[in-house]
Amino acid sequence: MKLFVDTDAGVDDALALLFALGTPEAELLAIATVDGNVPLQNVVPNVFEVLHAARTEVPVFVGASRPLVPEPRERATFFHGEDGLGNLKTRKARVRPEKTPAALALVELARRHPGELRVVALGPLTNLAIALLLEPELPHLLEGLYVMGGAHTGRGNTRRRAAEFNFAADPEAAHAVLHAFSRVTLLTWETTLAHPLPWETHEALSRRFSFYRTITGHTARYLRGKGQAGLLIPDPLAMAVALFPELKTETEEIHALIELGGVHTRGMLVTGEGASNAELVLGVDLAGFQARFEAALLRALGE
Ligand code: BDR
Ligand code: CA
Repeated sequence: MKLFVDTDAGVDDALALLFALGTPEAELLAIATVDGNVPLQNVVPNVFEVLHAARTEVPVFVGASRPLVPEPRERATFFHGEDGLGNLKTRKARVRPEKTPAALALVELARRHPGELRVVALGPLTNLAIALLLEPELPHLLEGLYVMGGAHTGRGNTRRRAAEFNFAADPEAAHAVLHAFSRVTLLTWETTLAHPLPWETHEALSRRFSFYRTITGHTARYLRGKGQAGLLIPDPLAMAVALFPELKTETEEIHALIELGGVHTRGMLVTGEGASNAELVLGVDLAGFQARFEAALLRALGE
């Protein structure tokens, strides 16, 4: 499986990247970066820090530094730490991104491997929307598209409560992607809330893997303070269903649209009339997830 990951790393993005890096069935061809959880100038070094921890090299492409329509950015540093990676005390990686812009890199890879590239998008969809402008045939060139995004019952995690972070961060990009692709798999915020990684498992992973412990500490403290039942892992869950589709236990076909107006609802995922263009993942086999995630961390981090 040839994989292209687009990310605004992000603690849970970092865990999703480690999941992909430690999965032998997946060949991670490229990582694209996008402004989101934290500014792009943090996202890029964060990705290199993850690659350094996994003792591997993957081409990293720099993507969009703002949404398609400029708007004040809501950040998620309360969740991911000021640097987006749990407030790392020391940085070890050399930051050496490729020169090609991320959207162009996606188009080139899709053309080079027609029908083979599986894209996993873990941040705002700005790079994908730009890639669609460069290559309108992109949906036909890809093998599949898996997105962490949307709040399918309208209970999101942003100041505009109805919208989920990645879609709220660039509503026009989310609209462009859902409009162009005839099928996208969506792992939403409510599905994230329904599948926390139990604290017991989180503690076991923290004891076993020092990099895991370092990057998740801030987020775990924040979520425990909020009384969550476990670590929230939106991007690892999206990565899980992309890597192992058999982990999906419940899905629903919908015609997905994005609200582009709306004082309180801009960026909201809504269900429209018409043919299905999206598969909502409602249930994930959490035990199966945990087994594969832990095995992948062991392969990637080797502790
Ligand atoms: C999404 O926003 C980010 O905070 C997470 O990394 C995830 O991609 C959840 O709404
Ligand atoms: Ca993310």
